Amino acid sequence: MCGIVGYIGHRQAYPIILKGLQRLEYRGYDSAGVALINENEVNFCKTKGKVADLAAKVSSKISDKGNLGIGHTRWATHGVPNDTNSHPHVSNSGNLVIIHNGIIENYESIKKELINRGYTFSSDTDTEVLVNLIEEIKIRENLKLGRAVRQALREVVGAYAIAVFDKTRPDEIIAAKLGSPLAIGIGEDEFFIASDASPFIEYTKNAIYLEDEELAIIKRGHEVKVRKIKDDSLVNSTIQELKINIDQIEKGGYDHFMLKEIYEQPNAILDTFRGRLLVNEGIVKLSGLENHLDKFINARRIIIVACGTSWHAGLVAEYIFEDLARIPVEVEYASEFRYRNPIIYEDDVLIAISQSGETADTLAAIKLAKSKGAFVFGVCNVVGSTISRESHSGAYTHAGPEIGVASTKAFTTQITLLSLMALRLASAKGIISKSQLREHLIELELIPEKVKKGLQSDAYIQEVSKVYKDTANFLYLGRGYNFPVALEGALKLKEISYIHAEGYPAAEMKHGPIALIDENMPIVVIATKKGHYEKVVSNIQEIKSRKGKIIAIVTEGDTSVKELADHVIEVPETTEFLTPLLTTIPLQLLSYHIAVMLDKNVDQPRNLAKSVTVE
Ligand code: F6R
Repeated sequence: MCGIVGYIGHRQAYPIILKGLQRLEYRGYDSAGVALINENEVNFCKTKGKVADLAAKVSSKISDKGNLGIGHTRWATHGVPNDTNSHPHVSNSGNLVIIHNGIIENYESIKKELINRGYTFSSDTDTEVLVNLIEEIKIRENLKLGRAVRQALREVVGAYAIAVFDKTRPDEIIAAKLGSPLAIGIGEDEFFIASDASPFIEYTKNAIYLEDEELAIIKRGHEVKVRKIKDDSLVNSTIQELKINIDQIEKGGYDHFMLKEIYEQPNAILDTFRGRLLVNEGIVKLSGLENHLDKFINARRIIIVACGTSWHAGLVAEYIFEDLARIPVEVEYASEFRYRNPIIYEDDVLIAISQSGETADTLAAIKLAKSKGAFVFGVCNVVGSTISRESHSGAYTHAGPEIGVASTKAFTTQITLLSLMALRLASAKGIISKSQLREHLIELELIPEKVKKGLQSDAYIQEVSKVYKDTANFLYLGRGYNFPVALEGALKLKEISYIHAEGYPAAEMKHGPIALIDENMPIVVIATKKGHYEKVVSNIQEIKSRKGKIIAIVTEGDTSVKELADHVIEVPETTEFLTPLLTTIPLQLLSYHIAVMLDKNVDQPRNLAKSVTVE
């Protein structure tokens, strides 16, 4: 986990790197650094803190000139966040400079060997070990940088996306990848290297995404040459045309990315089903699914693996798949699944859900399932991400870049896509009539407008947030399709406001959590008209008689809950399996406003990072 950026070309590298690092801060933001070559001299600046702290330090400490440079924004794995452990790291001779996203697992044994050979280390990082290993090999075997990097990478175990340069050859950057993402932007006589395409999107739309175990030699005035690390063979990499634009990755007038992304949901959901939901024909078309329908239909069961918010989307999907497509589903935390020796059959289908497509545990679960012969289907947002490439097939959510660390539009678009899949499978199995399918498609098509309408409660939700912002605990309750939404609401609140919150199935309340309820406990209850409504109303009554404060999410026009609740937030009516797409919105807004009122860093909450590429 970390963001890396590099530039080699005719422009000044520093402004490109700085802006790129700001865009990549979602990947980590506990320290940052930059190295720039100017007339065979390297200028470094590294600091604990954010990219803004780096910018301040650069302006007072070093020359920011040079048209080759690399930069890094860190999320610490080895060694605490401090100036010394920040990247770039330099080899003992001072010639080789590296940035690294990932973990070198066998760094300790390599470090011991290098110390025996006289190398010294100033940081606690695995990365400083790697750059010195490269140097040792380069000197010992009298190799060019590219060859030395290749040889060194054959000796390491772990994950990496790296960029390395040699100050004595200021015309070249070597980049390589295994397990962490790396894109190379190709401009006119200039090249960009980054963890994703956002740092270079305004300069070029052409990019190569390196595959695992590939190394690129990026040389001024030459074409990028990509080789396999294993055997040096040349790779014929495809240059992809990028579809994202600059407006998509900036705040567009909102105070925070999270708010922007909450408001983007009507369009994001529309983009998820665009071209796939064909109401007039009464069909769903998902190209990634079409050739594999038999795998799903004949599956012994579907296993869904994911983490965090994506896991919550998986839980919603469990209800939808079992209800609509009548296929048994198990939902697993990827991190638990991969380590508990699970029973996986060859006729199981594994669906991996991941916004970033880079989550290490989800990726490991995929590899495990593949090794047992199961079919793997990836549901990812980031195009070209590792999970999307590791899966046998899959479908993108097309939510656009999600920058806020707290996931919002990724969740609703995942549910949208999984609903489309369930409907397609139900119709392929012949267990849903044409007219039922059409009705569902019509309802789904109306969702973006209904989400828009739901967003109109924003000002009222802000008022409610004022009342509860200083509360120490929250409880979230929901049933059926809305139980996972309760979990998601609680997660959103804790991760950005640091208020303790728990989600429960409403009926479980009386088996324990009810003991928490008193006049100081706000309880958010999802009580939409469809789905055990009467039962949830009884739960609300139980809360009321214990003086708990009730914030109810209800269907437009509801009257019964209104009489009982302290605050009522209405959402438009829809068919039951689609309610999570509407009930999620007020919970996102509630957590957003509380966090803003508490003056928390909404887009970059403490201790978190956007893509968790470590186990
Ligand atoms: C919560 C959040 C995380 C992610 C989780 C999985 O708001 O963003 O819980 O959902 O880290 O990430 P992806 O979906 O990228 O695999």
